[in-house]
Amino acid sequence: MNRFNLTVSVTEYNSTEELDDRYKDLIQAAYDACSTSYAPFSKFNAGAAVLLENGETIKGSNQENAAYPSGLCAERVAVFYANSVYPDTPITAIAIAASVSGTPNKDPVYPCGSCRQSLLQSERRFRKNIRVFMVGSEKIHMVESIKDLLPLSFEMKES
Ligand code: THU
Repeated sequence: MNRFNLTVSVTEYNSTEELDDRYKDLIQAAYDACSTSYAPFSKFNAGAAVLLENGETIKGSNQENAAYPSGLCAERVAVFYANSVYPDTPITAIAIAASVSGTPNKDPVYPCGSCRQSLLQSERRFRKNIRVFMVGSEKIHMVESIKDLLPLSFEMKES
C-alpha cells in the first residue's frame, strides 16, 4: 500500500486592485452578468465571464427552470456559448461571481462539479490552462488550471 497527497495552490487576493486590468475587467464582467441571471427559485444570481485568447469576453448567467435539472449554471452558459461562437479559440480565464438580492456574495463562488467537468473538457480540447477566478466581495481565490479543482479526473485513455 502507498499513500500520496495531492496539493492545490490557490492564490488569494483581498481586492481586485491587486490584479491586472484584464482580470479586473473580467471580474467586473462576471458581476455585470449577474444582472441577466434568471433565478426565481434559488434567488442566487450567478454570473460568469470567460476571456478568450483573442481578447474577447463572453458573459453568461444561471438560467433556472421549474423542472430543476433543466436549468444551467452561469459557468456552463458562458463556456458553451464561447465555445460554440468561437470553436477554434481557447479560453484563457473565467471569473465567477454571484449576488443575492443585489448584494455581492461575500465568499468566493466555487464552481459546482458539473461545471468543473465542463471547464476541464474545454481546457483539454484546446490544450490550454484556464485560470479560474472565484470571486467574493471580501476575497478572490484563483487557481491556474481547472485541473486544480478536479484532481484525479476521468480521462478516456486506452490502458
Ligand atoms: N449556480 C451557478 O450558476 N454557478 C455556481 O457556481 C453555483 C451555482 C447556480 C445554479 C442555480 O441556478 C443556483 O446557482 C443555485 O444553486
